Amino acid sequence: MTKADLVVVANRLPVDRDDDSESGWRHSPGGLVAALEPVMRKADGAWVGWPGKPDLELDPFEFDGVQLVPVALTAEDVELYYEGFSNDTIWPLYHDVIAAPRFRRAWWDAYVAVNRRFADAAAEVAADGATVWVQDYQLQLVPRMLREARPDLTIGYFHHIPFPAHSLFAQLPWRRQVLEGLLGADVIGFQRVADAGEFARAVRRQLHYETRASGIRVPTPTGGTRRVLAKAFPISIDADAYIQLAQREDIRARAAEIRESLGNPRKILLGVDRLDYTKGIQHRLKAFGELLEDGRLAVEDVTLVQVASPSRERVDAYVQLRDEIELMVGRVNGDFDTMDHTAIRYLHQAYPREEMVALYLAADVMLVTALRDGMNLVAKEYVASRLDNRGVLVLSEFAGAADELGSALLINPHDIGGVKDAIMRAVEMPVGEQARRMRALRRRVREHDVEDWSRDFLDALGQMRAQREDIA
Ligand code: G6P
Repeated sequence: MTKADLVVVANRLPVDRDDDSESGWRHSPGGLVAALEPVMRKADGAWVGWPGKPDLELDPFEFDGVQLVPVALTAEDVELYYEGFSNDTIWPLYHDVIAAPRFRRAWWDAYVAVNRRFADAAAEVAADGATVWVQDYQLQLVPRMLREARPDLTIGYFHHIPFPAHSLFAQLPWRRQVLEGLLGADVIGFQRVADAGEFARAVRRQLHYETRASGIRVPTPTGGTRRVLAKAFPISIDADAYIQLAQREDIRARAAEIRESLGNPRKILLGVDRLDYTKGIQHRLKAFGELLEDGRLAVEDVTLVQVASPSRERVDAYVQLRDEIELMVGRVNGDFDTMDHTAIRYLHQAYPREEMVALYLAADVMLVTALRDGMNLVAKEYVASRLDNRGVLVLSEFAGAADELGSALLINPHDIGGVKDAIMRAVEMPVGEQARRMRALRRRVREHDVEDWSRDFLDALGQMRAQREDIA
């Protein structure tokens, strides 16, 4: 295995199994992959991650100029570390306990053991003095494990989801270990300024370390201190890629075809989410159903397209959520559909990027009603795709994107009356106002794309490294 100067460690590898392709792999569709791939290719980087299926033992291999280092998870690891601690403890706890987190000691033990395996794999592939960039809540212990094994490394960690208020975080029986785990990094990145603030507060309250502005003083085993930077680096999308797709004739034709197949309604509303209880899908359906019931909207004029892509389907809360959503969709459609028109076109499927852009182009109103969301990249994708400066983004103030996209119609998704009014305002908004708002939104997304995000983060890491070398 060749050693790498830049190593990304993430729960998932950037590829999915694809038995139809020659290599047997294809790029997984996430934004992170698109963001980091060019950087990784340039740096001859390595990516450590799980190939996404239990019991798949693979040797490291190269894919599109990046060295992939698979970490195998057994069926039991998947159950305890991924479905259990990551997605039934940390995920609900960090998303404001919208669902009740479950604290199981056996899940924690598996989380420690699997984090150790990721750290070992990263330590093995990292060259002397390399930079290692750990991603997200599944791997919060890796930074410290890596620092202990390899003090020569520069270590970054980016937290893609919210960091909760201290009163919630304090529920975690392993709160100190998690904080210590993260503080193994030189730079800890968050989506929002508020997340970084909550993290610093947790560090003060639980560990009594000194924090000032974005800096945290962490004691070292030799009796000194080490400075850690904990700061907001809001993630973004590859805006140019969306702009190019939105210009493509075939994709524009597909958008027209979608409108046609929905019976050319006057307005199309769109929701695109992983099927997750953090996304506020039920709140959105409730508001829309009530507007039909009140007669403020008519099924002949307006259709809601809801894409809900399958996610974490073996975790109880997700099984239950799917049932609830499908019951609601069935009720609304049963009450309001006609032979020619449907109220909600519900799609429990995942689509390639081309089809998503066609949907964005077809949609007059994009509904992002998350109860809590680290960033919400769908909001940014919609905006980037709207070359015509038309369309309205309705955006929850509880999504990280709200910090940057202030020209959207901001809503509190818990306030169903307010959501209904915002939907009506969006449906009736004159094109002049649509254009004014959309231009401001597009400017922001174009000026801060995902390349800026990774550059800003890696620059901050580089500065921390330089400071350390200065002191040494
Ligand atoms: C969120 C998390 C990611 C995760 C993704 C999909 O965006 O921040 O870390 O990869 O959801 O979830 P999954 O459990 O399928 O990886």
